[in-house]
Formats: sequence, C-alpha cells, structure tokens
Amino acid sequence: MARPSVLVTKRIFPEAVAFLRDRAEVEYVDSDDGLAAEELIARSRGKQGIVSQLTDRFSAEQIARLEGVRVVSNVAVGFDNVDLEAATRHGVLVTNTPDVLTDTTADLAFALLLATARRIVEGHQFVHSGQWRRWTIDLLAGHDVHHKTLGIFGMGRIGQAVARRGRGFSMRILYHDASRAPEAVERELGLEFVDRERLLAESDFVSLHVPLTEATRHLIGASELAAMKPTAILVNTSRGPVVDEAALAEALAAGRIGGAGLDVFEREPQVDPKLLKLQNVVLEPHIGSASIDTRRKMSMLAAENCAAALDGRRPPNLVNASAWKE
Ligand code: DGY
Repeated sequence: MARPSVLVTKRIFPEAVAFLRDRAEVEYVDSDDGLAAEELIARSRGKQGIVSQLTDRFSAEQIARLEGVRVVSNVAVGFDNVDLEAATRHGVLVTNTPDVLTDTTADLAFALLLATARRIVEGHQFVHSGQWRRWTIDLLAGHDVHHKTLGIFGMGRIGQAVARRGRGFSMRILYHDASRAPEAVERELGLEFVDRERLLAESDFVSLHVPLTEATRHLIGASELAAMKPTAILVNTSRGPVVDEAALAEALAAGRIGGAGLDVFEREPQVDPKLLKLQNVVLEPHIGSASIDTRRKMSMLAAENCAAALDGRRPPNLVNASAWKE
C-alpha cells in the first residue's frame, strides 16, 4: 500500500518530523517564513495530511481547494486560523494541541501580570541603562498582586490554571464564561461566577482566556475599558482580536486603566505604534506556550494527530467531531 503524504508548512521540532517520516512521505518546509496562500495550495496537492501553524490561513475558499487532504493538524491549541465549518463540510479533520501547553501559557499570563504590576521591565531598563543612582522611597513603586481581585474571562483549561496561580497569591477570583465551570472546579479554586459588568468593575487584574470566535472578537473594547478600575491591569495571552487594540492603546495613554501585559496582538507581528510608546505595558511576541519542552510536545502531538488520521484512526485531539466518519 502506498504511504500517505504529508506537508509540514513551517519549521517544527525535528523529532516530530522524524516521527512523520517513519510513517509517511513528508514534504517539510524547513523555514520560519510560512507559505503564501497559493503556495500552500500548490504544495498540498497529492497530500493527505497538513501539519500547520497558527500563521497558516485556511479560509473556506482555501479549504475548498484542498483536494484529497484528510487532516489539517494545527500545532496550537487555538484553531481560529481554520474555517472549521468549511473544513467539516469538506470532510477535512482539524486537530489541535491542547493540555500540553496549559501550564506554560498560564505561567506566561501570570508573568505578564506580575511584570506589569511590579514594573519589572521598567526596572530592568532603568538598571541596565545606568540610570540607577540612589534608592528612594517610591522608586518604581507599582501595585500589589497578593490579596487583590483577579477577574478571568474564560474558565477553560488555561483559565483554571491561571486561577490556580492566583490562589497561590491569595487573590480573590472572579470569572465569567458562556457557561459555568463545574461546581467542583469552582469549589477547588474558590471561584465566583459573575456577570461581565461585575468582573470589569471589581477586578484589579483582568486576564483573558477565551478562544477567538465571532462572539469574543473585541470582547474588550472602549466601553469595557471604561468600565474597569483606573488602576486595573489587563492581561491578554489568548488572541489579539479579543481586544480592540486601538481602544486599548487610547485607554492606556489616557490613564483610563493602569496597564496591560500583552502577548498577542490584532495584526501580528504588527503592534499598534501607540502601544510601543507607553511605559505601562509589557509586550511579548506571542510566546505564551514557548518553553522548549512545551513547543516540543506540541510538535509531537500535532504529528501524532496527523498520523492517526492518516491511519484511519480518530485523532486524539479532533476539534470538528462531526467531520469524523467511522
Ligand atoms: C496556541 O497554541 O494557540 C498558542 O497561541 C500558540 O502556542
């Protein structure tokens, strides 16, 4: 029987490529550039599997042109780069890489929260640039994190992991989501389910852990920012378009909120130039899951998902279950 063929659109960890090569013919694009839309289609010809990344766009139109492709295996937990409905309609299985990145992403969210509140980056720049001449009573005085109120939008795996970290800092934890977390989770993590208005009004820190969908696009815009405390800090490690970036830059510049720790942006890798001028922000280049161990695990999981689908097995992390036919 002929071996299946797989396209890997961008550089991943080498053990995942080796794993795929043991099972399939692999066209490996060993580059960080990413494929332009037309090239992606051209290279996908004759392939049954694609190992993709969040920078690869699979619109409905692109998916309609993926002849013979059985699976798109994304190396990410998010899959907003894929039109899921179109994929399902065309019988293309879509998979993601959950769980392995939960704690790593929660660590980064908490690092941003701490770094913004305690002005860690400003302090580093201050010392590094030789400006530190004397100790003063309010030198780089920031805001406490411990015993403050943490408001979490989205109480899925990563939201829960962030809540767990918040508990370690004796924080009061509010959350909002489309549906309530199981009672046992609420109890274990000491969570209080509240409406959006209360979360915005009462939180010292607002951390976003929702997937990007039409319902969550610009979940945080000018009016939500206006409803937050003037000292509040916004943390976003989810997806850039969950926040109206221009409105956020304006709110920060006008002092309507206290600060922001951002790992994701609306038009990555571009960042609103106004944000770049502000001191009360900490900005990272979408590195939420970027520990070596986790990125390796994500690469392997995507390879395993892809291989399962090509073997005729249900991939462990299938996100469009209705595309699966026994
Ligand atoms: C994801 O997995 O969706 C992250 O944004 C990239 O690691």
